[in-house]
Amino acid sequence: MSYPDDAAFGDLSALKSLLEELDRFNQFDGPDQAGRRQAAWKEQLGIPLPATGAGLGTVLDELNEWIVPNGLRNGHPGFSGWVTTSPTTSGTAAVLASTVAGSQRVWVHAFNYLEHLSLEWLKQLFGFPDQWHGTYTTGGSSANLIALGAARQWAVEQQGVDPSMTGLPQDLKWRIYASSEVHHVVNRAAAVLGIGRRNVIGVPVNSVGELDPAALRARIQADRNEGFLPMAIVATAGTVNTGAIDPIRELRTIATEENTWLHVDGAYGMFGILDDRIRDRYDGVAEADSVALDPHKWLAAPVGNGVAMVRDRGLLGRTFTLEPAAYLEGSIGEQSEVESPFDAFGEILHEYNLDQSAPSRGVQVWAILREIGRDGITRRIKRHNDFARHLSQLVEQSGHLEQLAPVVLSICCFRFTHPDLNDGQLNELNRQLVARLRAEGDLVPSTTVLNGKLAIRPCYINPRVRQSDVELLARRSEEIGAELVSSFRDSLAD
Ligand SMILES: Cc1ncc(COP(=O)(O)O)c(C=O)c1O
Repeated sequence: MSYPDDAAFGDLSALKSLLEELDRFNQFDGPDQAGRRQAAWKEQLGIPLPATGAGLGTVLDELNEWIVPNGLRNGHPGFSGWVTTSPTTSGTAAVLASTVAGSQRVWVHAFNYLEHLSLEWLKQLFGFPDQWHGTYTTGGSSANLIALGAARQWAVEQQGVDPSMTGLPQDLKWRIYASSEVHHVVNRAAAVLGIGRRNVIGVPVNSVGELDPAALRARIQADRNEGFLPMAIVATAGTVNTGAIDPIRELRTIATEENTWLHVDGAYGMFGILDDRIRDRYDGVAEADSVALDPHKWLAAPVGNGVAMVRDRGLLGRTFTLEPAAYLEGSIGEQSEVESPFDAFGEILHEYNLDQSAPSRGVQVWAILREIGRDGITRRIKRHNDFARHLSQLVEQSGHLEQLAPVVLSICCFRFTHPDLNDGQLNELNRQLVARLRAEGDLVPSTTVLNGKLAIRPCYINPRVRQSDVELLARRSEEIGAELVSSFRDSLAD
């Protein structure tokens, strides 16, 4: 169906060929050529604005021929980089369904209800209190921003000022405390919220990367002496570098003593609470004031799916409320009965975060949890944590690999090492080693730097990773490292 010269808007069976192409893509056959072929696909796609349309057939042809085959393979079984992956089938189905049949999360329809239901399920999954209020966001960055927005509201209200109405009082200076391992999106959130990046204090960590409570107490005291007020303490439940989990219970105690907000950034690691071997590390999380979660990480929801959970919905409301608008609330009025879906807003969500219009994201979490349940996701988390432990054993058994941080969750940081090379040379060698792995395409871990040492850093959240991929990473790291050592030796001898 379409108007002449306008877009097709029916007959989705035209998408059949696209689904087949996507299926092919998901086989990840052959080497990843998207990077090497960029000149070709840029030339093909990079045309000036078309004056006349080429039609749906051309769009589908170009998707099938040029775009999908040159897409991003972060769901490849050998991919363990950063903290990202691509969705499994149920999440993909949910996105397609909501794109067509639930394209706004508001009003009274099934997708709107799933926004609510799936957040209830997440609270049950993590053991969060019933009265907590969740809101979907675009990811971990905005989840942290929204939660810290609520923290700001609360802290400034304690001083008798409503910051959402009048802004931050000029005479008050604020600090947010986190560990030196905090994710950099927290610093950006502080910038956006008018607190300032420099006022996020990176408190020293202990030898295993966890925030040191004694150092935190000392720093808050010193800052108070200089007139700074604590706005929030941020505990990270799973740092992005090593997966370390800050001592949440102790930080809760300090936050209570200091009458300040406790926020937990669980964007990567919150799902780790499902692994009973490490559950006690999350003790205190249910007493936090807010938590940031990221279903698009370990739950493998389609990217664009984060969650902020806050204990007090009213705070979120006061922070993010939209003044009533004639064209919105005014157009609905007071319907006693819902006859049309457009007679009411259903689960009201646009008053509690940054977006007025937003896609239905709850259906993605609903679909994934409906498909595999609590047991399925628990098994996945444990499997991934096992992978990191298994890799750590392989590293320990190898004479050429060295572990650089303890394994807590699903990250194992290690490097190739050699007695003839210093840290600077080893950093360069390991950088080249990972570049070689990426170029070969079967294994894509990422790297980080720990105490000045470049670490190979696989992070297992990708549902497709197999134990053989983990073992291959250890083996190829040894093999490539050994090859590179000889070239480093040659250059040393020159
Ligand atoms: C601990 C932590 N917080 C926040 C983020 C940011 O999340 P996103 O990339 O979804 O914005 C990440 C991303 O890796 C993370 O690991």
